[in-house]
Amino acid sequence: MAKPRFQFVCQNCGTAHARWAGKCEGCGEWNTLVEEGTVGGIGGGPQSLRKARPGRPVALTTLSGEIEDAPRIITGIGELDRVTGGGFVRGSAILVGGDPGIGKSTLLTQAAAALASRGYRIVYVSGEEAVAQIRLRAQRLRVAETPVELAAETNVENILATIGEGRRPDLVILDSIQTLWTETAESAPGTVTQVRASAQAMIRYAKSTGAAIVLVGHVTKEGQIAGPRVVEHMVDAVLYFEGEGGHHYRILRTVKNRFGPTDEIGVFEMGDKGLSEVPNPSELFLGERSAAAPGAAVFAGMEGTRPVLVEIQALVAPSPLGTPRRTVVGWDTSRLSMVLAVLEAHCGVRLSTHDVYLNVAGGYRISEPAADVAVAAALVSSLCGLALPADCVYFGEISLSGAVRPVGHAASRLREAEKLGFTKAVMPQGNEELGTGIAANAYRPEALADLVARIAG
Ligand code: TYD
Ligand code: MG
Repeated sequence: MAKPRFQFVCQNCGTAHARWAGKCEGCGEWNTLVEEGTVGGIGGGPQSLRKARPGRPVALTTLSGEIEDAPRIITGIGELDRVTGGGFVRGSAILVGGDPGIGKSTLLTQAAAALASRGYRIVYVSGEEAVAQIRLRAQRLRVAETPVELAAETNVENILATIGEGRRPDLVILDSIQTLWTETAESAPGTVTQVRASAQAMIRYAKSTGAAIVLVGHVTKEGQIAGPRVVEHMVDAVLYFEGEGGHHYRILRTVKNRFGPTDEIGVFEMGDKGLSEVPNPSELFLGERSAAAPGAAVFAGMEGTRPVLVEIQALVAPSPLGTPRRTVVGWDTSRLSMVLAVLEAHCGVRLSTHDVYLNVAGGYRISEPAADVAVAAALVSSLCGLALPADCVYFGEISLSGAVRPVGHAASRLREAEKLGFTKAVMPQGNEELGTGIAANAYRPEALADLVARIAG
């Protein structure tokens, strides 16, 4: 066997360095380099003497018809199936990442149970908990009587031997990727080399047998344990499970998906019997809303194919500081700077001596530029101390010239608002093809300045 070569690998991003350094050249994180061995020399040494075995290419045209749609394993948990793009694809690998304690094991236990009771063979491999602990959780989730197969194991070779027995599994869940280790890599479990080699072995298994695999990965802010980021590019789909401390709901978000859309979210609520689906997230996000107060505007947003209404809260106050504070939770800081600049340049709203705090209610995160108008309305409302009408929703993108630009899915946004009892809307002129219901009652400013004048009275 070749002599192992040693190198220093960043546990955050996986960049290999020949020498130890305090700071990683790849991602700029500090104290993340750990000495790791690799087997042989990659691409060199006696391995390269191996005789190549020719493969047999297949004509692309002969494949059509055979693989019309990726065969999927559907859990029946609507919020989960939507995020995966209609169920787990056979032979694919999915990474489910999230902070420790957010509910990854709970979600996957429930998914495993749902699938097992539909007749699929599901193997749940846990490297973190003993079988008794998993069973306790299953009892709490009222799914202990489903035929999910449990295994407490961390060695990849043992796992492959275990699941190789009996009927082929339809889905294998590995909880978590950080606990896996394989004999082919020399480093300690949890290091980048181990995480990568183990993930690779399991993905190879998935491709060759047609089983779907789910890798659970803890996200660590300190980067001390190899983060799931190093396997992101190896898997077919990456889902992140998020939540805010103090809130019971959790959002499952697609970051990457080779077999489906990447902008879908699934919303769940964590209760004492596990996660339950939230089919109408707007109700949840707006449920925490107090009576109309200055600085609050309801944004009619979209997440993938689904409209989501959420409250945007702004607080504008005179600043004692030379450089006033700009604090944003749930939105893009540079986007806020842009809206502030447009308000200042085109609408005569001076905020350069004010602290600005912006918060998206309920710990929700918005990534759409369509929120510009709602943010501007909330800011102006707070500055003037005038509450916005409680039955009005806002959406529209703001350009640097101060114009209100049209956005996609106006009809869905309005329909959702109507469903939740809103009767008015502030929306872009360009979206005026819709003439019924709430749209007939809509105010459509051409420029942001018009809206500002209307709010300020
Ligand atoms: P878990 O799924 O173990 O998190 P992860 O695998 O992401 O680390 O969930 C941990 C938290 O969820 C824990 O704080 C307890 C809570 N929980 C509930 O509130 N209700 C439940 O029914 C279950 C099973 C867990
Ligand atoms: Mg867990």
